[in-house]
Order: sequence, then structure tokens, then C-alpha cells
Amino acid sequence: MASSSPKARLENKVAIVTGGARGIGECIVRLLVTHGAKVIIADVRDDLGEFVQRDLGEHSVSYIHCDVTLESDIENVVNTTVTRHGKLDIMVNNAGIIDEPKLSILENDKSDFERVINVNLIGVFLGTKHAARVMIPKRVGSIITIASVASITGGITSHAYTSSKHGVVGLTKNAAAELGKSQIRVNCISPYVIPTAVTHKFFNIDDSSGVHSNLAGKSLEPQDIANATLFLASDESGYISGHNLVVDGGYSVLNPVFGLFSVNKV
Ligand SMILES: NC(=O)c1ccc[n+]([C@@H]2O[C@H](COP(=O)([O-])OP(=O)(O)OC[C@H]3O[C@@H](n4cnc5c(N)ncnc54)[C@H](O)[C@@H]3O)[C@@H](O)[C@H]2O)c1
Repeated sequence: MASSSPKARLENKVAIVTGGARGIGECIVRLLVTHGAKVIIADVRDDLGEFVQRDLGEHSVSYIHCDVTLESDIENVVNTTVTRHGKLDIMVNNAGIIDEPKLSILENDKSDFERVINVNLIGVFLGTKHAARVMIPKRVGSIITIASVASITGGITSHAYTSSKHGVVGLTKNAAAELGKSQIRVNCISPYVIPTAVTHKFFNIDDSSGVHSNLAGKSLEPQDIANATLFLASDESGYISGHNLVVDGGYSVLNPVFGLFSVNKV
């Protein structure tokens, strides 16, 4: 019954979490450490990343400045991780941004679209590529990307963000197809709305009180996404690859405004 000890779930594992300095990423970092992993935070917010490092202790967490859009930065984080810990077991591509909410595509600038795609899709490509580079020789690894419910549904967020999140699902499937040969699993997680800096900026909300939830009275929390990440990172999900784990309380499988169980029915 080794799995009854929380530590046993990620003991001796080494993880990188991009965008781990705050929000969902920080929550993932804290949970992975609780379960015994050594974690490297790769982020551009040095102040926040260094705070988490100090808070959890340098024995468990290191912060490395890394802009996921720069291949040399990603390469440096992965190489430093291997130098320090001898290997990389878990790559969490979590860093993401969103653009301004604009209601017409005519108002969308190419440069804004490219900025979002650069972080949310190209950043994930680079993270996946360099994690794979060091995982392939060891024939072990779990690569997890934090996508979004916007990866499977239109109309919730901007064109750029929705496109980027659909894109990472395709990348996840393709990378899973290739890296399965090396026993590396590649999956993504698609959260519904959680109040963080990203949603505050886009939806102008500070809490989930105005967000429709299919699970009455329950809101999605960063901890729910951390729990899903822990599952996909651990050996408990050893035969799961190429999957998009949607964490939305059932939102995306129903029509909330029309149907037998819609919110308009009493
Ligand atoms: N909050 C939500 O409701 C929600 C829902 C679905 C998916 N997501 C996704 O979850 C992930 C985390 O979002 P969050 O809500 O915690 O956002 P957040 O803004 O609180 O955190 C994002 C982190 O990524 C970092 N980051 C941004 N650009 C970076 C770059 N170029 N290189 C390295 N780090 C960078 C930021 O500094 C920050 O620490 C994102 O991919 C987001 O798209 C969020």
C-alpha cells in the first residue's frame, strides 16, 4: 500500500512547471512538491517565482527565469534541470496569456494574435520539444499542457486564445503519437473558468459567482487542475496518452440554455 503515503506518488521525480510563479501554475508547483517531486519553476516573473522558491525551500523548488517563447531560455531550463537533478520526468507547459477582449475580428491586430500564439502554442511546442530531447534517451516521461475549455468550444474567449488552445490539443496528439515509441506520455488538461489574473483581465471577474457552473453551487479552483496534473504526472496514469482531460464539471457536454435539464427549467 505504498500509494497511501502522499509522498510516494511523485517520490524521486523531477518536474518543470512553466508559468509556475502564480495562479494555476503555482498551485501545481505546490502540489507536486507536497507529493515528493523536485520542481523547477520557469517563468518571467522573477519576484513571484523567487518568492515561491523561498516559501517552499530551495531543496524542493528552484526558480529559473525563462521566457517560453525563446528557445534558448527553454533549452537552458531543461539543461540546468538535468545538470542539477540528473533527469526530467515531468514537463508541465502551463504558461499562457490572453489578449484584450474585442468583439469584432476587424479590431483584432495581427501582432496581438501572434503574441498569444507565441506564448500559448509556440511556447508549448518548445517546452515539449526540449523535454522530449532529454526524456527520449531515458525512455520515460510525462508531458502535460494546460490547455482550456476553449480548446474544444468556440465563443468563450478571443480568436487568438481559442486558436492557440485548439492548436495545443493537435500538438498533444501528434507528440503522443511520436513519443509513445519512447514510452513518453503526452496529455493536456482543459480547465473551465477559474478566477486568476488571466480571467480577471479578460472577463473582468474576481470570483466565480457570475460564472455558470453545471455542478450547482461548486466553482472550479486551481487545486482541481493541480489534482488533474498530479494524476497525469504520476504512474497512476501510466497508460493514458494523447488525451485532453477536460475539467469543466460537464459544461462542454451540455447546452445550458436549451434542453430537458437547462437552467431555464424549474
Ligand atoms: N484561469 C482560467 O480560468 C484558465 C482557464 C483555462 C485555461 N487556463 C490556462 O491555464 C494556464 C495558467 O493560467 P492562469 O490563469 O494561472 O494565469 P496567470 O496569469 O495567473 O499565470 C500565468 C503565468 O504564466 C507566466 N507567463 C506568461 N507569459 C510567459 C512567458 N512568455 N514565459 C514564461 N512564463 C510566462 C506568468 O508570468 C504567470 O506566472 C494558462 O495556460 C491559461 O491559458 C486558465
